[in-house]
Amino acid sequence: MAKCVKIFDTTLRDGEQSPGCSMNLTEKIEVARQLELLKVDIIEAGFAIASPMDFESVKAISGAVKDATVASLARATYKDIDAAYEAVKDAVSPRIHTFIATSPIHMQYKLKMKEEEVIERVKEMVSYAKKYCSDVEFSAEDASRSDKAFLAKVIETAISAGATTVNIPDTVGYSTPDEFAAYITYLKEQVPNIEKADISVHCHNDLGMAVANSLAAVKAGATQVECTVNGIGERAGNTSLEEVVMGIQTRKDYYDAATNINTRQIYRSAKLISAITGVSIPPNKAITGANAFAHESGIHQHGMLQNRQTYEIMTPESIGKPAIQMVLGKHSGRHAFEERLQILGYQLTKEELDCTFEHFKLLADKKKSITDRDIEALLANKKVQIHETYTLERFVINSGNTITSTAMIKVKCGDDFIEKVATGDGPIDAAFKTINQITEKNFILNDYVIHAVTEGEDALGEAVVKLHLDGKKATGRAISTDIVEASIKAYLNGVNKLIV
Ligand code: KIV
Ligand code: ZN
Repeated sequence: MAKCVKIFDTTLRDGEQSPGCSMNLTEKIEVARQLELLKVDIIEAGFAIASPMDFESVKAISGAVKDATVASLARATYKDIDAAYEAVKDAVSPRIHTFIATSPIHMQYKLKMKEEEVIERVKEMVSYAKKYCSDVEFSAEDASRSDKAFLAKVIETAISAGATTVNIPDTVGYSTPDEFAAYITYLKEQVPNIEKADISVHCHNDLGMAVANSLAAVKAGATQVECTVNGIGERAGNTSLEEVVMGIQTRKDYYDAATNINTRQIYRSAKLISAITGVSIPPNKAITGANAFAHESGIHQHGMLQNRQTYEIMTPESIGKPAIQMVLGKHSGRHAFEERLQILGYQLTKEELDCTFEHFKLLADKKKSITDRDIEALLANKKVQIHETYTLERFVINSGNTITSTAMIKVKCGDDFIEKVATGDGPIDAAFKTINQITEKNFILNDYVIHAVTEGEDALGEAVVKLHLDGKKATGRAISTDIVEASIKAYLNGVNKLIV
């Protein structure tokens, strides 16, 4: 029988801590719920000691998640482990994930500890975590640059102290598939109690080999892979969940392994993370990129028409992406809309459906044909809706190459209306400055992207802004057939998140 490989998702911890990917509490819970639909085995919800906000979000996710194990990261210290346990203790299945570095460079310069001291700390801290929780994971940070014999001793010590999962990270993305597989084989041969724990791997993508290294480790006997949706994470990112899962599924003949993942939720998960973080999915990205299942060349199209398997090793349906794009329009009724949502894999409550259908109708008045991508954009937009302190009422922009751009914006704030005028370097700059005047705050714009959701003259424009204020960051997002309106609404969305 194929061995089961557990999927440990760290989108909310290693992914979220990477630049430009921060999420607020509502967004984190939304992601955790989607990860449950995806059926990941373990959700690493955060690093509880990092800040009071991190602690609160790990605690809230622990309360919200019904099936998956919820883990919090902790350095190998009493304080970190106390905080991790406090944050996950109410989870249905809690896990403490503690780590310490084992490579010579980290031990000398970062920890200033000798090998024996590290071994002693592992014993003490894993035993301490074990008093709180039966499920303890131990990670040897920078394992792939550690002395193999020393690493084996550390792993043996962690298992003897009660670790039920031992994680071998390629922290700096330095390893290669053959070398990494050899590490796993070595540990399996040299660590006498290795059968008592799951062997996990956690790879970074600095040399573009995170997925290849993880899969090589699975072939060598790893039974847990740590990964993130869309591969988001520190520097070049982490192992991409969708690639590793579809690699295992598509090449079951080779890996003789299976995961518990509901692959039909992959596409939706990828879209959700992209919508929340504002980090788009490159069109040629394996599995989830817009072109991943597109066949352009005549020879390929001919082959596909004869037999899909000529050029397709997996189907779009297997990741929850409908192969056939349907077009809806202003005459489409609620029934057709609801049916399309179901085909696209969305399960909405009646309230959510009412609200989305209303937006669909408004859009259908402006846009002749509404494609699946428009519907996805509508829903992604709905996902990032939060309490709106400021709502756009109306705007007028005056701009040209021989005049100074001026924006007038009127917003509703509670029962009041606020109207301001400001000038700027172009219409968007003028609009954003006007909003800063309205809010009487100096929000700083870090990034601004506008792109067309679909092709055609009446395409829906999606604007994404990244803002910060007093050290807090937020991503704002909005869609409209008018790109200036999309930009203003995206900015207001970011502002509303920051002031909540
Ligand atoms: O990359 C790494 O080594 C980590 C560990 C803390 C697991 O993220
Ligand atoms: Zn990492």
